[in-house]
Amino acid sequence: MSSKLAISGGRKVREKPFVTVPRIGEEEKKHVIDVLDKGILSGFVAGPGEAFYGGNKVKELEGKFRDYFNVKQAIAVNSATAGLHAAIAAVGIGPGDEVIVTPYTMSASATAILMQNGIPVFADIDEKTFCVDPCEVEKKITSRTKAIIAVHLFGQSADMDKIMGIARKHKLFVIEDCAQAPAAKYKEKYIGTIGDIGIFSLNQHKIITCGEGGVAVTNNDELALNIRLVRNHGEVIIDKMEFKNQPVILGWNYRMTELEAAVSIGQFSRLDALTEERRHLAEYLTSKIKGIEGIVPPFAPDCNEHVYFVYPVKLDANKLKIKRDVFAAALKAEGIPCATGYVRPIYLEPTYRNLKGYGNAGCPYKCPFYDGEISYNSGDCPVCERMHFNELIVLPVCRSPQTERDMDDVAEAVIKIANNIDEIKEKTEI
Ligand SMILES: Cc1ncc(COP(=O)(O)O)c(C=O)c1O
Repeated sequence: MSSKLAISGGRKVREKPFVTVPRIGEEEKKHVIDVLDKGILSGFVAGPGEAFYGGNKVKELEGKFRDYFNVKQAIAVNSATAGLHAAIAAVGIGPGDEVIVTPYTMSASATAILMQNGIPVFADIDEKTFCVDPCEVEKKITSRTKAIIAVHLFGQSADMDKIMGIARKHKLFVIEDCAQAPAAKYKEKYIGTIGDIGIFSLNQHKIITCGEGGVAVTNNDELALNIRLVRNHGEVIIDKMEFKNQPVILGWNYRMTELEAAVSIGQFSRLDALTEERRHLAEYLTSKIKGIEGIVPPFAPDCNEHVYFVYPVKLDANKLKIKRDVFAAALKAEGIPCATGYVRPIYLEPTYRNLKGYGNAGCPYKCPFYDGEISYNSGDCPVCERMHFNELIVLPVCRSPQTERDMDDVAEAVIKIANNIDEIKEKTEI
């Protein structure tokens, strides 16, 4: 192995790119052809009757989610963003309500709250799992808090016992954002089935995909009906179907097409195999890089079954004596794709910092029904900022069709840099 680092002009560990496009097989094609042959690309009609619930493939997909997760209800939508919004609406969030969420998540986990004129309140993360820290959640509760969104980041569960305990004590709804962690488990329970509603994503980059899509799961029939009304123009349905309780009224078009459902059915049949592959590759990689001074492989508490949507690594700059960004640049130069951090803490985005959502009146942050005071500032969640700006590297490589040999390249590159840190240290002393 050449010891000269690629970043200093040495030979790269790896020339071959890693594959990140999903595998689409015969099962997906069979279902898509079936839809095309029948010519019904969407089975939805925004009117009373069976078509309110969607087409055959949508129903088949929902049945598969119900069986797999052992839940009463599954509702397919056209993205997890739509699912999160529908869930927020379903539990009755509106102007004046606060919802607690992590700042280290994809934007939609928080914008779903804004879409109902609710106020996102950000609670800092746990520095080992990168999911929200329940102690920080509890500190943020006020008389206005109505719900918690528990995001299961990077493929593993948030601390659900503590989150559910806080929710029960303060009578809050819990919505689980499972976009990055289908089939992950917490204490042997599938995530998404622990809180009131779980939301999965089927977008292009997820563990299983149909391009764009999502599914909500719940054991609560009333919440399921609400989600269905939000999915399919509830306002024109509400007085035509006989519902017992007063459900939510406004709806959108969050309907999944038959084509998306067809691909999803095929993909869903591979969920266990894909999860197993990811887990195996991640654990193999960890076995190769654990014990290197200053490099912390992913941590999962014993009660969590991680599905490694990505492979997060923490760098201890004091031990390594180089900055995280320099390490990442060296890793990329060796031919290993990686990102410095994930998304920047989302309260730093302009809609939050400038309290500017809809129009120019400061809505929903300055809504007259909101009697709290909210501001979003740098420093609000220091652990999240430290992870994002200084310590975390995210590798997207532990997935099919990569094999152990590919993981060997990753490990070789990491070890090469760690062993030759002095080559780059001079330039980057901290
Ligand atoms: C944690 C999380 N929540 C929500 C979403 C939104 O998913 P979708 O793209 O299906 O709307 C994503 C997508 O990246 C995500 O990672």
